[in-house]
Amino acid sequence: MKLTTRATSITLALASLALGSTSASYLPYQASSPSHLQRLAERQQQSTPQEQEAIVQQAWTDPVGAARAAEAMPFIQNTSATGGLYSTTIIQGDGNQQLPWNAEVYFQPAPDVEGDPDDGWRALPEMPSFSLNRSLTITENAVMPFYQSEAYDASKIKRAILVMPGKPRDSWKYTMLLRNALSVAVTNTTSGVTNDSVLIIGPAWMNTDDRNAGAVLPGELYWYGTQWQRGANARGPGDVNISTYQVLDAFLDILFDKAQFPALNRVMIAGHSMGAQMAQRYALVKPAKSYDKNVGYWVGNPGSYGYPTSTRPVANESCDGDVWGYGFGNGSMVPSYVRSEVRNDRDAVTQRYFDRNVHYFLGLNDNGQGDRSCEASQQGANHLDRGCKFVQYLAETNGAEFPSAHTANFVALTSHQDYPMLSSNTSLWRLFADGLDTREDDVAVNSTRSPGQRGGGNSASSGSSDLGYASWGVASLTAVFAMATSLLL
Ligand SMILES: *[C@@H]1O[C@H](CO)[C@@H](O)[C@H](O)[C@H]1NC(C)=O
Ligand SMILES: *[C@@H]1O[C@H](CO)[C@@H](O)[C@H](O)[C@H]1NC(C)=O
Ligand SMILES: *[C@@H]1O[C@H](CO)[C@@H](O)[C@H](O)[C@H]1NC(C)=O
Ligand SMILES: *[C@@H]1O[C@H](CO)[C@@H](O)[C@H](O)[C@H]1NC(C)=O
Ligand SMILES: *[C@@H]1O[C@H](CO)[C@@H](O)[C@H](O)[C@H]1NC(C)=O
Ligand SMILES: *[C@@H]1O[C@H](CO)[C@@H](O)[C@H](O)[C@H]1NC(C)=O
Ligand SMILES: *[C@@H]1O[C@H](CO)[C@@H](O)[C@H](O)[C@H]1NC(C)=O
Ligand SMILES: *[C@@H]1O[C@H](CO)[C@@H](O)[C@H](O)[C@H]1NC(C)=O
Ligand SMILES: *[C@@H]1O[C@H](CO)[C@@H](O)[C@H](O)[C@H]1NC(C)=O
Repeated sequence: MKLTTRATSITLALASLALGSTSASYLPYQASSPSHLQRLAERQQQSTPQEQEAIVQQAWTDPVGAARAAEAMPFIQNTSATGGLYSTTIIQGDGNQQLPWNAEVYFQPAPDVEGDPDDGWRALPEMPSFSLNRSLTITENAVMPFYQSEAYDASKIKRAILVMPGKPRDSWKYTMLLRNALSVAVTNTTSGVTNDSVLIIGPAWMNTDDRNAGAVLPGELYWYGTQWQRGANARGPGDVNISTYQVLDAFLDILFDKAQFPALNRVMIAGHSMGAQMAQRYALVKPAKSYDKNVGYWVGNPGSYGYPTSTRPVANESCDGDVWGYGFGNGSMVPSYVRSEVRNDRDAVTQRYFDRNVHYFLGLNDNGQGDRSCEASQQGANHLDRGCKFVQYLAETNGAEFPSAHTANFVALTSHQDYPMLSSNTSLWRLFADGLDTREDDVAVNSTRSPGQRGGGNSASSGSSDLGYASWGVASLTAVFAMATSLLL
């Protein structure tokens, strides 16, 4: 009982310090058992709101120093929260409401959905403000279902967000979270962001469980397990062998087609947790395109990172942590359509990653372990520790300078909480407002395909396993995109 009182009063004290008000518009997290509360109380002593705010500020000019400071907070390095990841929640509980200072803005909850992530979803739900589009053909006889903002006027779209789901493949939820975040962003009239200038797209990555349960309609693409996040090839329909990353390539080609989106300046690829893993790994291997300077990546609290080299911050001699997903390994498991490039031009691929606009967002209370594999543990003990170590690693690998195109921002008093991360003030600016009216010039790329993928001296070493994709050829790919393009109009 004493413990309960203590934990609750700490929560309230933190909350009122953080908010500078006694507003009762939210409820602090209520733990369900004393042992939970014990952990909650311990973790809330890990740092004060003022210490966290100092790290938030430092990161603007010194992301590496901020990462060191964050990692040095108690209960971060070499440790992790046990029990539910949500047990460190401080600002709000469930992600189903606006942050306290945005409480006046309407919040549309995600729709009910039949089925579950383990046995499979039975149907993709319809929901307000979005159309569920099930007619985009990516390649012959393969349709990619996705949510798109309802009834948008393409001539007004300046910004598009491609939002990834989390591990449960809950694309409807994340698409709606972005909509709720946009509703907040538009209340800042100096930002220039309006409802009709932003297009939100939520690709519905599904898997074989969803096919068995009924959510995948005949002719629609699906993958296996959680392999969608690391660019694996589809398991169907039929024998189509297409990587999730090729589907993202197709969305980007459509969005950057000036005939369809004449006012579009920037696309943000956003994801939290497993969705962040997908965004980060895609940034790591995505083939070069002329418009790449206008693509940004919002990477929130991933469970692990794809490292471009074999170095890892935590040694473990009995575990090979450099396997695809966690790193390139020898390249054999990298998505087949970019495999040759990774094998043959590793340094160029690494440099290209450093040159991309990758924005890491890390919750300063996110010390949940998440991925328990030995590969992940070599990146750090928990989400925040892994993020801090990756930021330091990037600087070390890039000649002691954090890559100038990358940023790292920390979110105070926030754990593994998708919506508080997405709707933090800095995220709103990064996702919707930054660069809304500016577009970088296209750069020449020698091929729309990855260098080393076809032709030249590299093809001899590309290996027979690449043939599945190589057989598409540039001409047929262009035709496919032209078809896809006409369909999205
Ligand atoms: C975490 O572990 C590393 C390597 O074992 C060690 O150098 C470091 O001091 C430890 N940090 C803490 C806070 O225990
Ligand atoms: C923007 O869209 C949201 C959600 O539909 C709505 O609540 C809000 O009123 C709209 N804002 C403006 C300025 O139209
Ligand atoms: C409003 O938008 C402007 C421009 O993006 C930004 O500088 C400012 O910080 C925003 N205000 C708030 C309260 O987020
Ligand atoms: C090192 O890897 C082995 C093999 O996977 C694993 O059993 C062990 O737990 C790992 N050690 C640490 C400290 O993570
Ligand atoms: C590449 O690594 C995989 C395991 O990750 C292994 O099975 C394969 O033999 C390796 N290939 C080469 C050429 O070393
Ligand atoms: C975010 O911006 C709002 C509006 O200016 C402000 O009231 C709130 O305190 C800010 N929150 C944080 C955590 O900075
Ligand atoms: C493209 O090819 C030209 C001429 O072969 C070369 O100078 C240039 O560096 C290449 N650009 C890229 C981005 O590979
Ligand atoms: C799909 O890819 C796998 C692995 O690369 C390969 O074994 C298989 O033959 C391919 N299938 C088709 C239809 O290309
Ligand atoms: C889905 O996209 C296709 C192709 O762009 C379009 O014809 C159709 O109207 C869209 N469907 C919905 C429900 O928005």
